[in-house]
Amino acid sequence: MSAALRFTPRTLRAATFGWASLLGVVLLAAEPGKYVGPMDVVASPDGKSLFVLAADAGQILVVDVAGGKVAKTIACPATPTGLAVSPDGGKLYVTCGGVRGTACVIDAASGQVAATIPVGHTPFGPALVPGGKRLLVCNRFHNDVSVIDLAANKETARVKAIREPHKIAVTPNGSLAFVSNLLPVDPADSYNVAAEVTVIELGSLATSKIRLPNGSSSVQEICVSPDGAYAYIAHILSRYQMPTTQLERGWMNTNALSVIDVAEKKLLNTVLLDDIDLGAAMPWAVATTADGKRIIVSHAATHELSVIDAEGLIAKLKGMPKTIEEAKAAGRYDTQGSYSSVTVEDVPNDLAFLVDLKRRIQLRRGGPWGLVKEEGPLVNGPRGLDVIGTKIYTAVYFSDAVAVVDLEDKSYYPVKLIPLGPEPVLTVQRRGEMFFHDADLCFQHWQSCASCHPDARIDALNWDLLNDGLGTPKNNKSMLYAHRTPPSMAQGVRESGEVAVRSGITHIQFAVRPEEDAVAIDEYLKTLQPVPSPHLVDGKLSEAAERGKKLFFSERLGCATCHPEPLYTDLKMHDVGSKGQYDRVSEFDTPTLIECWRTAPYMHDGHYTTIEQLLKEGKHGSVTGDVEGLTDQERKDLAEFVLSL
Ligand code: HEC
Ligand code: HEC
Repeated sequence: MSAALRFTPRTLRAATFGWASLLGVVLLAAEPGKYVGPMDVVASPDGKSLFVLAADAGQILVVDVAGGKVAKTIACPATPTGLAVSPDGGKLYVTCGGVRGTACVIDAASGQVAATIPVGHTPFGPALVPGGKRLLVCNRFHNDVSVIDLAANKETARVKAIREPHKIAVTPNGSLAFVSNLLPVDPADSYNVAAEVTVIELGSLATSKIRLPNGSSSVQEICVSPDGAYAYIAHILSRYQMPTTQLERGWMNTNALSVIDVAEKKLLNTVLLDDIDLGAAMPWAVATTADGKRIIVSHAATHELSVIDAEGLIAKLKGMPKTIEEAKAAGRYDTQGSYSSVTVEDVPNDLAFLVDLKRRIQLRRGGPWGLVKEEGPLVNGPRGLDVIGTKIYTAVYFSDAVAVVDLEDKSYYPVKLIPLGPEPVLTVQRRGEMFFHDADLCFQHWQSCASCHPDARIDALNWDLLNDGLGTPKNNKSMLYAHRTPPSMAQGVRESGEVAVRSGITHIQFAVRPEEDAVAIDEYLKTLQPVPSPHLVDGKLSEAAERGKKLFFSERLGCATCHPEPLYTDLKMHDVGSKGQYDRVSEFDTPTLIECWRTAPYMHDGHYTTIEQLLKEGKHGSVTGDVEGLTDQERKDLAEFVLSL
């Protein structure tokens, strides 16, 4: 008997209580460590099929909607990252790969790759411009957007975005594209820190930007209403200026939907998707029903969908007084508490604004928030979604399934699942990845670890964690090599990555969890690998970076005394003159410089947005070397080397 067919107690249990009970048949559990990893789902224009982006399997799965099962698999030339479908359903546009990203044109019927178009580093979120002549693709780590001519299957232009662009929504008339940028670019110690949306005029390719409210980060998906009047964008609204003493009422992270007025190219307002005593962590995908009447948001960390009355929302937002005087004149400023938000400015802080305008649909069995412990398949991590008529289809990442919710059917439970493969058997690392993205580990479900550490990296914000005292905000830190570079935290207050993980659970999530959950998170974080820098040329240092490397290792500068290879840290604390106005100490932990290109702003207080600025204005490195004697060219070269690590 082959290993795959042997019944172990574990596979038997999974088969009995999991997919099997759902399907009424006996299926074998998957091989541990082998996953489908659905990240997104796009419906065919006729509504008969779903194209599922299976990131871990490296495939596009074609699901037959009527039959509720996978009808076909299409292999991708490299890891698929994004998916769009042509208006006739005949062609799939799939972005693939990392450093040498491509946009592939795939024939939906035959599964053959018809064209492979080179684009930038880690392409994401392909979007067709109506008319079908052009395709837009985000190059996440080149911070730009490729414009592709589909007649010639060639990139014809690159348009600058801001930071880690990854989703594009085009207006139905094809005039504008709205691009979501994951992270802010501001100095983290300034008063206003927020991510911005890039707007591209598709005629001239000129760009402008729309700033989201202070604290907006982890900006995920964006969509435009079918009438082209509004763009909706899902993101986290962080209250990073508050000391992290509690979580109640969205004290740390709230979860938001911003509404952009397309004609005005302006932010109309931002509303919260949370309830007063229950967070809706990690809003991810956003789409509308075809009639535009309902906005659907998936919540990756609370495993649910929000369904919002779009007309009601817009009417309420447009009816908001701009000033207290206006509110008084309109008879809306009373002492009876009739209005939760008095003016437009109150809306982004109002946890009750959507009270009559939204409902939350839990995707898990066992009732809302899985409170009733019931055996059933795992439903964890809904991400991309699409809508056919009144039915919502969501890719559920850790479950290797698509969840189906019919808005017309008032009794949603148990939510129907379309399995995309055998029930996944989670390795300890995969369980850790799941816990890291799960707001079950958080009091009232306000946030997951990934709310502040998207992709297990950073949100580019300063947080006043209590581990080093109150009133001492610190810039966020990446999880890459956290376990190999003790001590942890800028002030080195945690002796290791392990301790930092456990203190994150107890003191940031305010949760009590079994030790095995923390162990799983450790094991997941230890698997993180650096992404090759976009500053490398064919995988090698550029000429400028080579010159910078010599400077870095020179006695003249002595950077390597504190930043030695291989991880570019001596694991020690140093006083490098970086003490700021809020600090009580002057020694800080030497951070690894690997992946520095993606973790701006720099230093414990996030004061510097570029390495050149850190070297020039911050005079960093002058403890050992002649940093002030560097010429502009030398400083550029040195920065280029650090950014290539
Ligand atoms: C509210 C935002 C926030 C949340 C939520 C959060 N972190 Fe952090 N995390 C931070 C900040 C900010 C730092 C850096 C603090 C410092 O340097 O003093 C950090 C640092 C860390 C570090 C140390 C990295 C290093 O190399 O020094 C680890 C490990 C870590 N977090 C793990 C977690 C885990 C695990 C969770 C979930 C249980 C979590 N974090 C949730 C904001 C957050
Ligand atoms: C005496 C030890 C020391 C020397 C020498 C030194 N560094 Fe640093 N470096 C540090 C410490 C400590 C920090 C963190 C300081 C803080 O957070 O305030 C740091 C931070 C950095 C950062 C920011 C990393 C981040 O993620 O925020 C960069 C980039 C950097 N160093 C590059 C260099 C370069 C280039 C040189 C040589 C010109 C150099 N360092 C010399 C100790 C040193």
